[in-house]
Amino acid sequence: MSDNCEKSCDSCNSGCGSKQELADLSKLPHPKSKIGKVIGIVSGKGGVGKSMVTALMALEMNRRGYRTAILDADITGPSIPKSFGVTGPVVTNEEGVIPARSKTGIDLISINLFLENEHDPVLWRGPIVTGTVTQFWQEVIWEDIDYMFIDMPPGTGDVSLTIFQSIKVDGIIIVTSPQELVSMIVAKAVRMAQMMNIPIIGLVENMSYFKCPDNGKEYKIFGESHIDDIAKQYDLEIIGRIPVDPLLAEHIGDGTIEDYPVDNLKEAADMVVAI
Ligand SMILES: Nc1ncnc2c1ncn2[C@@H]1O[C@H](COP(=O)(O)OP(=O)(O)OP(=O)(O)O)[C@@H](O)[C@H]1O
Ligand SMILES: [Mg+2]
Repeated sequence: MSDNCEKSCDSCNSGCGSKQELADLSKLPHPKSKIGKVIGIVSGKGGVGKSMVTALMALEMNRRGYRTAILDADITGPSIPKSFGVTGPVVTNEEGVIPARSKTGIDLISINLFLENEHDPVLWRGPIVTGTVTQFWQEVIWEDIDYMFIDMPPGTGDVSLTIFQSIKVDGIIIVTSPQELVSMIVAKAVRMAQMMNIPIIGLVENMSYFKCPDNGKEYKIFGESHIDDIAKQYDLEIIGRIPVDPLLAEHIGDGTIEDYPVDNLKEAADMVVAI
């Protein structure tokens, strides 16, 4: 093992003899599913806008005419159905589970669609959480999906790793915000992607600035962002910058995200099409 070993054995060619193979735990989706590209939305920290970016990416791809789906893998903090104004229960037949469909035609699965009361807390431990996400992958009939976005649980811990081992993910988008310890958080996400051999599509910086509706000026309310330096350091592309927008929060809050008129993630969607 070299002095600067990063234990990224899957992407390392040093042939040092200490190589640890990651077990192949990948699971096949339901036989009736047809799923094109799968994109994971991750961040090293909660509350930075992962679910919002997942929803906006799905909206953008859906607007471009692709059949789009969201798998809400955030079992203990599911927020996707609420932002789309979609409620359960979902239909289950003898073959499998039929995902809910949003107003504009995006297929959705989330633990909230199975709970009797969506406000009930889910107090499950890691293995049950990851088992549930695997069931969302294997037992839901995802029909003719071009792009599936996975809203990952916050952080880069065991649950995220197990999900990435079970589901074949084609790329990840890392969400950050200027007030985070961005460098550390990006480093963790990059390392996780390397361990899993998953390409990083790019970084989206949320809450980059606030555009004042009165004078049109942009204010960096969380201070100067260091995202450009960090992107350079890790050889990543910045594929989106989303401002703080009270209208966005309003649409998420009242379940009408599909009516949000601003298109902040065009470049990110172009990158997803290119993978
Ligand atoms: N750019 C923005 N402008 C205004 N409000 C925003 C913006 N981004 C996110 N929010 C609000 O901040 C909250 C957190 O966003 P979101 O739920 O997407 O984060 P998250 O990273 O998924 O959080 P968690 O880790 O809890 O799952 C939401 O209530 C959302 O309405
Ligand atoms: Mg979330």
